[in-house]
Order: sequence, then C-alpha cells, then structure tokens
Amino acid sequence: MVTPPPAGHDRPGDPCIIVIFGASGDLTKRKLLPALYNLKALGLLPKDFAILGVAVSPGDDQWFRDEITSEIHEFSAHRPIDETIWEEFRKRSFYISGDLNSTATFEKLKTVLERVHGQLKIPGNILFYLAVAPTLFSTVVRQLGAIGLTKEDEKGWRRVIVEKPFGHDLSSARALNNELSQELKENQIYRIDHYLGKETVQNILVFRFGNSVFEPTWNRRYIEYVQVTVAETLGVELRGSYYDQAGAMRDMVQNHILSVLALIAMEPPSSISGDSVRDEKLKVLEAIRPMSPEEILSNTIRGQYGAGEISGEAVPAYRREPQVSLSSNTETFVALKLSVENWRWAQVPFFIRTGKRLAAHTTQVVIGFRTVPLLLFGKNMPNHIPPNRLVLYIQPEEGITLDIHAKRPGPKITLANVPLNFNYSEFGRGDGATGYETLLYDCIIGDPTLFHRYDSVDTSWQIVDPILDVWQALPARDFPNYAAGSWGPESSDRLIAKFGHQWHHYPKIS
Ligand code: BG6
Repeated sequence: MVTPPPAGHDRPGDPCIIVIFGASGDLTKRKLLPALYNLKALGLLPKDFAILGVAVSPGDDQWFRDEITSEIHEFSAHRPIDETIWEEFRKRSFYISGDLNSTATFEKLKTVLERVHGQLKIPGNILFYLAVAPTLFSTVVRQLGAIGLTKEDEKGWRRVIVEKPFGHDLSSARALNNELSQELKENQIYRIDHYLGKETVQNILVFRFGNSVFEPTWNRRYIEYVQVTVAETLGVELRGSYYDQAGAMRDMVQNHILSVLALIAMEPPSSISGDSVRDEKLKVLEAIRPMSPEEILSNTIRGQYGAGEISGEAVPAYRREPQVSLSSNTETFVALKLSVENWRWAQVPFFIRTGKRLAAHTTQVVIGFRTVPLLLFGKNMPNHIPPNRLVLYIQPEEGITLDIHAKRPGPKITLANVPLNFNYSEFGRGDGATGYETLLYDCIIGDPTLFHRYDSVDTSWQIVDPILDVWQALPARDFPNYAAGSWGPESSDRLIAKFGHQWHHYPKIS
C-alpha cells in the first residue's frame, strides 16, 4: 500500500513536464523516481505529464527508459511495481545528455521541451528540479533564463525546486539568492527540505493545532525544556568531499533541525497554507537570538568521530573516510543550547544535538513538562519518577508517546510512569513512501507551505554563522573526541548537565 495522500491533496496536479537536472544521480534514482511513481500510483500525477531527465551520462530516451526501469525495481520500496502504471510512466520519460555549463545543452532542452509539449499535448507548465551540485544551481537557472524558460506566461507556470544546501554561509546564501532572483520570482523558487516531507514532521502541525488539549500547556509555564535529537549511525559514506566542506552544522542544523524546532515553537498560524505557516516559522527563527562569542564557547559543542564500532562492526575514524582530509577539523557532531526569546518560550532551553556514527539511528523531539506545583504523591522518591514527557518520534520509529504518572495497583499509593502511545505503524501507514511525494506534489499544485522561503533561510544562517565563525577562529584541538558508536563527546553531556538536565533517548515506542 502506498501512503494515502494528505487530506485536501486529492486532485491530480496540473499537467506539466518535470525536468530533472542530475537525472542519473543518486537522489533521482533513490528518491525522486520512486516518489513520482508513488504519486502516479495514487492518481496524483496529472494525466498529461512527462519526465525529462538531463545529465552528463551519454544516452538517449531508450537508454534512459531502460535505466529508470531497472532503478525503480531496485530502489522503490513500494512492491510489487504495477507494470501497467510503470509502462505509462516509462513511455512518458525522455532524456538529454549534456554538460550543464554548455549553452548547447539548454538549446537542445528547449527544442526537446517544445517537441514533448506538442507530442503529448501538455500545456506549458514546467517544473525544473535541480538535483545537481550546489555549484551548478545558479548556472542552470541563468542558462534557463537566457533561453526564456523561466518566464511564466498565459501558457503556463515555471517552478524550480532547489536542493540543499542553500549557500555555504550567510553571504553565499545571499549571493545565490540574488543570482536566482535575477531570473525567478520568489514564488517560483521552491527550496526543498526533505525533513518537511516526512509524515511525522508534518504531523507536528496537526498534533499541535488539530487538538485543543495541548495548546494551553504549550508554553514556558508548563514546559521546562525541549530536546531535539537527530542521531545517525551512518558515517559520511561516499559524500566525504561534500561533507568535509560542510560539517554537521551546515548539513543538518541550519536547515532540517531549525525547521523542526520552528514547527515545535511557532505560534498558531491563521491558516495552514501559503505564507501563514512560513510567517510564523520565520518569527521563531528571528526570536533565536544569535549568540555572542562567549555564549558560543559555553553553549555549543562540536565533535568528530574516531574509530569505533557500529552494530558490532569496526568502523574507521572520520579522518579515514574516503575524500576526507587526514587532518580534517570538520565537525560530525553538534550539540547546542538555544533560547527562543519570546513570551511563549523565554527561559525554556532548547537543546539540540545531531551527529554521524552515533549509538542509534533516531530522530526524536522530547518535550519535558514541569513537575506538578505540589507534590502529593511520591514525595519520597521525586527523583525516580520524572515529570511528564512527550516524545515525538520522527524516524525510524514514527509516533508519539506521552509519559504520565499512574498509581501502581496495590494497597499503597505508589506511582509508576506509564506511556500513552500512538504508533504510526498501526495507523494505516503505508510502506514505500520516500518523503518526497508530498513535496513534489505540493510544487506541482503550487503550494509552497512546506518549502523554505528565503527570509527563513537567511535567518537560519544568521543563527549558525556566528557559531561557525568562532569555531573556525578557534579550531578544535581535541578531534576526534568521540568514538563511533557512542552518543558523542562527553562535553555534550556536560553541556546539558550545566542546565540541570540530561539527554533523553527513547529507543522504541514501548
Ligand atoms: C541530508 C544530509 O540532508 O539528510 C545527510 O545531507 C543526512 O548527511 C540526511 O544523512 C539525513 O536524512 P534522513 O532522512 O535519513 O534523516
């Protein structure tokens, strides 16, 4: 079963041609094609659609169709592939081989687009997906502009999905945005963040604003702290050359984690579409005051993994990974304490941590509630029963747990911690979804809610840039400072302990 479409998303998108730059890359085969196939299977791709792949690999339409056919069978988690649906998909797929720095490639693109529009009777809507190296983002858009493919007219819309990272720091993000803005209006630019395509991340909005019981307690009076953990057991795999220039702060914090934090902390939007949600998310980011150098030294931790073990297997140190410098000072772990300075959250610490090669693969948000104002029960064991906690499991476990206190059965009043659980796997969660379905579909119907608007990107860089500057000025002297397979450097535990807390990790929805 494919995950059913989100409510309200029940009409096929507008007829269009989807042009994928980087069509022979990893993202295309692992995520984009399976997601487009799933949309087709759900009836959410328009009847009149075509896929046009562009990449440097030599090949023609037939070659591309054969390639994607073997890829969909290898990478789609939706089994079995419905061959009738796939055949329809396959025959609507086309390919152009060419160098993206060459004008000739774009002239060819224009000719092929005109042919496909005519041949399949698809109106002029075109979605361009930039699944290419960030260094090519502005080149591709400039070339598209030069041949008039970015201009919208009565014949159709033009939208561009830009992958992350959007810039390397604040100034390069601004420069990139300026370059894109030469050719595109803000409402044509869809800055994608695949975390926002995750079912459980979107559910944060529904959980908070679709229920009336949580909102009254969702503030500093009742919540003592918030923790966001994004832990991976994977290392950098074959992405060493990118990652060694990026590090965990740019790779995870600036985009995915700040976005999740914004959904947790935002005020209720006036509607759930368009700019309302993005306006509220921006306000949260603006309320995260950039830290002074002194605060950075005391409220941030960076780490890099040394050799260790993951699931009983020896794994090398980060510096021994392919395409990583032997003396690399890039952080593979970050822990931070942030403050959201507004009336709702003043003095509530937001702790975030993320890292590669950690002890578990998990993304979860823990909301720690305050203790009851008067301890009637369990007075003699206040430390043994922690106050209520709400755990939002984002992945790979998907669900929500609320830890409450209950009386243990028996003649005496003793308390126990009891989890109230909601598990997505028991809720008709279909397999096979990549997380890109919603985002691709939203772009096709022109709903930008789940995409980053530039002002948020800019504000996120304003938060992380000062930290990166201090780290660069004072290179870490103790790297590697955690073993692969651990929970990161001990200094991360000391950081949170300084504020009277400890990191929580809920391995499973119990
Ligand atoms: C990507 C990062 O954006 O997100 C990767 O570049 C990271 O380094 C990945 O591994 C994590 O995504 P997910 O969906 O597996 O949590």
